Amino acid sequence: MEYLYILCLLAPCYATLNNKKFPDDFMFGTATSSYQVEGAWNEDGKGENIWDRLLHTNPNFTVNGDNGDITCNSYHKYKEDVALVKELNVTHYRFSLAWARILPNGHVDQINEAGVQYYKNLITELRANNIEPLVTIYHWDLPQTLQDEGGWPSSDIVDRYADYARLCFSLFGEDVKYWMTFNEPKEFCLQGYGEGTNAPGIKESGTGEYLCAHHVLKAHAKAWHIYEEEFRPTQNGQVGIVLDTNWYEPATDSAEDEIASDTKLQFVFGWYAHPIFKGDYPEVMKNNIQRRSLAQGYAVSRLPEFTPEEIEYVKGTADFLGLNTYSSMLVQPRKYTDVSAMGSEYDSEVEEWYDDSWPKGASPWLVVTPWGIQKLLRWIKNEYNNPRTIITENGYSDYDGTLDDVDRINYIQQYLSGIRDAMDEDGVNVFGYTVWTLIDNLEWVFGFTNKFGLYNVDFNSPNRTRTAKKSVGVYQNIIRTRCLVDDCIDS
Ligand SMILES: *[C@@H]1O[C@H](CO)[C@@H](O)[C@H](O)[C@H]1NC(C)=O
Ligand SMILES: *[C@@H]1O[C@H](CO)[C@@H](O)[C@H](O)[C@H]1NC(C)=O
Ligand SMILES: *[C@@H]1O[C@H](CO)[C@@H](O)[C@H](O)[C@H]1NC(C)=O
Repeated sequence: MEYLYILCLLAPCYATLNNKKFPDDFMFGTATSSYQVEGAWNEDGKGENIWDRLLHTNPNFTVNGDNGDITCNSYHKYKEDVALVKELNVTHYRFSLAWARILPNGHVDQINEAGVQYYKNLITELRANNIEPLVTIYHWDLPQTLQDEGGWPSSDIVDRYADYARLCFSLFGEDVKYWMTFNEPKEFCLQGYGEGTNAPGIKESGTGEYLCAHHVLKAHAKAWHIYEEEFRPTQNGQVGIVLDTNWYEPATDSAEDEIASDTKLQFVFGWYAHPIFKGDYPEVMKNNIQRRSLAQGYAVSRLPEFTPEEIEYVKGTADFLGLNTYSSMLVQPRKYTDVSAMGSEYDSEVEEWYDDSWPKGASPWLVVTPWGIQKLLRWIKNEYNNPRTIITENGYSDYDGTLDDVDRINYIQQYLSGIRDAMDEDGVNVFGYTVWTLIDNLEWVFGFTNKFGLYNVDFNSPNRTRTAKKSVGVYQNIIRTRCLVDDCIDS
């Protein structure tokens, strides 16, 4: 392996960065999501979603009572946002569709034309600037009416989602070639329906998250089959899913800790990836949850079962994998296993923690461990037969949105280097990288206090003025040279 020790161009950094060029067709991009940037929460016929409801009725759910009512006002400033995307020189922009903007009550019988027009305008503006839209169909903002009908833990949602996805393909599919059915189902199922720390705030640990996931997987598969049968022949695009995970590093090199690492990855990532890429839930999930459920007095496992037909129906339903990853954690077998404890954390029988010495971002879950991304990509390659993968999210948060964002620059350079190492040394099939995020925005329960943007947003100004941070110049430079160092060698 050839490495160059370098001093970074615009910021001091001391890491060893990969010196091979990224392939010419490697896609560099940036991302946002509807609730985090759009605002206009009740304008032009948009319906209420579960975040609107939760943060209006329970403002102290978020830091400072922040919410998405206005946030970056991208609904009105989308042309300005696209101009920033253009200025970055990226080839693709990942954004999400707000279900309740298109279908105010969640059902397809009532289409909100103004909402449809907003996304048509955004896509047209991107295409006019030569930017490929990557569209997330669902990024956490369920219409409130569908939550009132049971939300993700209810099986009715599968058909509601399938109807909505079909409508999206038919409305926008001429101009959209990359679809992502869901963003981070692990987060919205676990936190929304298990731990209750995200919308809709339901605390049903040990059952709610598994029911949610089961219906998400069926809904994802149904959307993929709809695309396959009704749209692919004419539209010729691709449909994937975005899954998120940390790298879980064994605390020691003991066999027990190595197994704990694999078990944790199965419980966090395999939960979704195994049914889609291999068929059915991972064995370790089925075994642990069944054993613990019976010990708790349940007649059957709390993990729902797929029928053999359903296993086949869900299997093979991703044209690519979208991977969101930011951090690593240490793991070992859980020492004190209380069989009555409920939740997938306990079902995994693994305990996890951050090493105190690892540098941290503003978000409590964000630690700077660029060495983890290569290990994670290698694990995914080996586990799922090297799926085509795009890093759909990766990025760094600070508290103040400083324009002199040296820590973000170092983070992005080092993680890209780890990705390039994995492509080089392990042959992982990564075709793109998308920085989270274009502009500082509403970071869910952390409100406007965790800032991930390449561009600063002044939330005190009615104009929501956007200003480039130093990372913009560094990212432009990486994209122009396709390289992380001064002296690159061809790949
Ligand atoms: C949250 O809001 C409730 C109801 O308004 C209030 O009683 C409670 O003290 C608040 N909690 C915090 C932490 O501010
Ligand atoms: C509003 O923001 C844009 C950039 O985001 C800036 O060009 C413009 O000057 C701002 N207008 C005012 C009145 O601050
Ligand atoms: C953007 O890309 C074009 C074409 O590769 C290049 O000529 C230009 O210098 C780039 N701009 C920046 C700011 O890097």
